[in-house]
Order: sequence, then C-alpha cells, then structure tokens
Amino acid sequence: VVDQAPSLGFGLYVHWPFCVSKCPYCDFNSHVRASIDEDRWKRAYLQELDRIGTLTRGRTLTSVFFGGGTPSLMSPHLVEGILSKLSHYWTLSPTLEITLEANPNSVEVQKFQDFKQAGINRVSLGVQSLRDESLKFLGRAHKAEEAISALKIMTKLFERYSFDLIYARPNQSLADWRAELGEALSLAGQHLSLYQLTIEPGTAFYTAYNRGDWALPDEEASYALYDTTYTLLKERGLNLYEVSNFATPGAESRHNLLYWRYEDYAPLGPGAHGRITQGKERSALKSWKAPETWLNAVDAGSGVEESLILSKEDQFTEFLLMGMRLREGIERRRFESDFCVTPEMIWDPDDLKSLSEEGLLEQSSTHFKPTRAGLYALNSVLSFLAQRQKVLVKKP
Ligand SMILES: C[S@@+](CC[C@H](N)C(=O)[O-])C[C@H]1O[C@@H](n2cnc3c(N)ncnc32)[C@H](O)[C@@H]1O
Ligand code: SF4
Repeated sequence: VVDQAPSLGFGLYVHWPFCVSKCPYCDFNSHVRASIDEDRWKRAYLQELDRIGTLTRGRTLTSVFFGGGTPSLMSPHLVEGILSKLSHYWTLSPTLEITLEANPNSVEVQKFQDFKQAGINRVSLGVQSLRDESLKFLGRAHKAEEAISALKIMTKLFERYSFDLIYARPNQSLADWRAELGEALSLAGQHLSLYQLTIEPGTAFYTAYNRGDWALPDEEASYALYDTTYTLLKERGLNLYEVSNFATPGAESRHNLLYWRYEDYAPLGPGAHGRITQGKERSALKSWKAPETWLNAVDAGSGVEESLILSKEDQFTEFLLMGMRLREGIERRRFESDFCVTPEMIWDPDDLKSLSEEGLLEQSSTHFKPTRAGLYALNSVLSFLAQRQKVLVKKP
C-alpha cells in the first residue's frame, strides 16, 4: 500500500518485553525470564517487521523508538538487524531519530558503543533517582554511582540523550528534591523526563499503598514539588513541553511528539500499539501482549491481535487526549484538516471562555492549548471538555 498520508510524521515503535527484575511501581509490559532464545526472537522481529513494513511501504520514517521492558538488554545484533531493514520499506528522513531506552546497569552500559554502531542516535536512561535509599525503595537494580557513570558514558557517546527520574516519593521533602534535582541538572543535557510517582493497579506498590505501608505526598506537597521542578528546569533553559517532559527548543523527543500530535506509528513487538492512516481510514493496531503468545502469533502470520478502523468520534477523543498533553497544545488547522470543525463548533464558546477565565485554557490564532495550570489539572480539563462536547458527527 503506497503512502496515502504523506503529510503525517511516521514512526516505528519496537517493544522489548524483558527486564532483569520487575520494579514494584511498574505496570509496563515487562517480564522476567530465566533464559531467552535470541535467535527465535530475532526471526520473529524481522518477520513481523517485513509484514508491517509491507503494509506501510513508501512512507517517510521520521523516528524509531526501542521501548520496554528493558531494550538495552537486547543484543546489538538484533537492534542492528532491525535497523538495517528499515530502508527496504521506508524512505529514511534525514533527521531520523532512533531512541533506545536503557537501564544504567554496568553490563548494559558496556554495549552503548555497539548500539551506537548499530544506528541508535538517542538514548533515554532510566536513572529514577540519585539517592541509593530511594533506588532501593523503587526496587531498582542499580545504585546512584552506577547511574552517574552510565550518564557520563552516555553523554560522551551520544549527542541527543535524556534521563528519567521519579519524584513525589513517600517522605520526599521539598529541600531533598531540590538538592537531588540540582545534581540531576548538573548531569543533564537538553532533555529530561520527570514523573511523579503514580500507583498503578496490579503492581506491588498498589498492594503496599492500599495496605497503608506508606503514604504519598498530599496534594499541596505534590504541587509544591511540581512547581519547584518547573522553576528549576526553566532556569536551566529546559522548558516543560509535555506533562512530564522538559527540553530546550528543538531537543524534544521526536518520537513522543508523534504520539502527542496524533501522527502515525507502526507497532513491532509484544503489546506494541500502532496508529496507521490509509486513505480516509485510520486504524488502531494492538499486538498480542504476552511475549510467547506474540511469538506464536508471528509464526502463524501476524503479531497483531486487533486492527480496528477508528470512528471519527474515537479519533477525535484520542486527538484531544494526546494533543492536550502538550504545552503547545493543538494546532487549530488540525481541527479543520482532520475533522472539518473549529473548536467553537465543538464546544459552546461560553464553556471555552469559562476555562480561559479559570486560567486553564489558552487560545491563540494558531493553537488551542492548556495553560501551565491547565496541564497540571489536565484530567479535570479533559473531563470538562468531554462533558461539554457537542456530537462531532451525528450517528445514524
Ligand atoms: C518503560 S519505563 C522504563 C524504561 C526502563 N526499563 C527503565 O526502567 O529505566 C519508562 C519510564 O516510566 C517511568 N515510570 C514507570 N512507572 C511509573 C510509575 N508508576 N510512576 C512514575 N513513573 C513511572 C519511569 O521513570 C521509567 O523510566
Ligand atoms: S521500570 Fe523499567 S526495568 Fe523496571 S520493570 Fe518497568 S520496564 Fe522493567
């Protein structure tokens, strides 16, 4: 099928579902296995890539993201095998971004040079904390010292990189976080992801939290942590560009921007999702989640469990949910080009005015966007917009 949505960015998401151990807060599709048959996995990734590549042949690939799980556990040969095939299906953008998520364990860090050789040009390192006590609480397999040496190696090898920290942890004082964040900023480049700890159903933290083993900072303390984070990052020139992501202009993650701008991406690997536009239709693809089920499904012809054509209403819901995560918000012309509407046709102008008066929404001639306060209160802004939304396309 030839590219029928040439103006949209197009990415490839590759999911590696294995980790050395399971972190107690994590609900990502990650599994611990005593042994992994690399050859079988390589055959499956390449076979599925061939199928998904053939389906989207001719498009211009703007980003690839190896996420997980822990993709830095992959063999560089497997990464190289996947990357060397991309040009068989797609035109490679001259600014193609190829990110790999990595854990700061020393064994994986030794492979950074090989990953670079294989074509990785951006690394996102899961530091999580620079305090040993917190790393222990978070169930991480590394110490702060290891994370710092991994960061130093990463910054020498890669021009574009980022690292993740988790804050708003139990008993974390503002002063502690200021000090930790200050250290992090002295090690940071042009991009950082800073997540407030969330308690996800089905995780070990969910059980511990509900048993009352520990408490999270209350709303006021959480806001103070968030506000300090924003201010310290701003002083360093790192702008908040998404709910939890900060970058200098131009250093934003191109792949994540694809999701938030509601562009297209192909899925590769267990549990990987995709959005693919062909002609007037946009489909949501979902791969089989359990690693072995995915392997068997690929052997049988396709790793995708479900491919659904999205209704205009569903597309609009996703478009709004994704776009409002960005500080830049949504381009007004996308409302028109994708849905033949303006925001004023979707919502009563008085409702939009009341959001603006509460300081949650900003509108310019080009963009419809949350304010910084609106980003912090995103869930309430979105539920207000969902409640007040007029029907987009009348159902028969
Ligand atoms: C796919 S995960 C992890 C990538 C990599 N395996 C690692 O652990 O560094 C991406 C990021 O999400 C964040 N994260 C995951 N679960 C979280 C939670 N419950 N609360 C806050 N942040 C979370 C972590 O910062 C993590 O680095
Ligand atoms: S946080 Fe990362 S290392 Fe920990 S279980 Fe989740 S994906 Fe694996």
